[in-house]
Amino acid sequence: MTDAAQALLHRIKTDGAVDGQIIKVDTFLNHMVDPTLMRVLAQEIAGRFADQQVDKILTAETSGIMLAQAVAEELNVPFIYAKKKKPLTMTGSYAAASYSFTKQETTTLYVSQEVLFPAERILFIDDFFAKGSTLKAIEEIVSQARAVLVGKAVIINKGVREDVHSILTMEDLR
Ligand code: G4P
Repeated sequence: MTDAAQALLHRIKTDGAVDGQIIKVDTFLNHMVDPTLMRVLAQEIAGRFADQQVDKILTAETSGIMLAQAVAEELNVPFIYAKKKKPLTMTGSYAAASYSFTKQETTTLYVSQEVLFPAERILFIDDFFAKGSTLKAIEEIVSQARAVLVGKAVIINKGVREDVHSILTMEDLR
């Protein structure tokens, strides 16, 4: 287990909780945020994708943003967060719908055509990977832009897709 995985596991045990399939992390990851822990997690992910010539990081509002920024700082690249509401000022956009099983609602993700370009090498970042609907929408947006998705990384992978890099999986939490 990596140092980042051990630090996160320790934190979940002391300040969080695992309730069946739901992991409670809102006192250090996705409501109140511990930037020191976030940096440790980001360094692990940045190290894993350091040789992938990443041009930009792409995440979705809201809780992916903190990790996306931390990884972007490590890799020294910009990050984009897909918006869940299309601003009036966003003229041309890529868009894809995502159904959240947790929230039981469909959300459309929007990315301006002014920030994502053909052939750019994109790293997807999020806090959780659950059913994969966010990633599916992101894949659609990247494809609309004719950019290239070179990696996918999350803090906790609750799903079965092994191409999604994660610090911890459900297995580690048992
Ligand atoms: P999917 O994108 O992989 O299909 O996942 P799903 O819709 O089932 O759930 C994604 C949303 O639920 C995400 O928030 C994610 O942060 C949250 N989530 C999923 N599993 C857990 C968990 O075990 N613990 C916690 N705390 N949150 C979880 P979102 O709806 O995309 O929006 P936002 O909260 O980032 O704004």
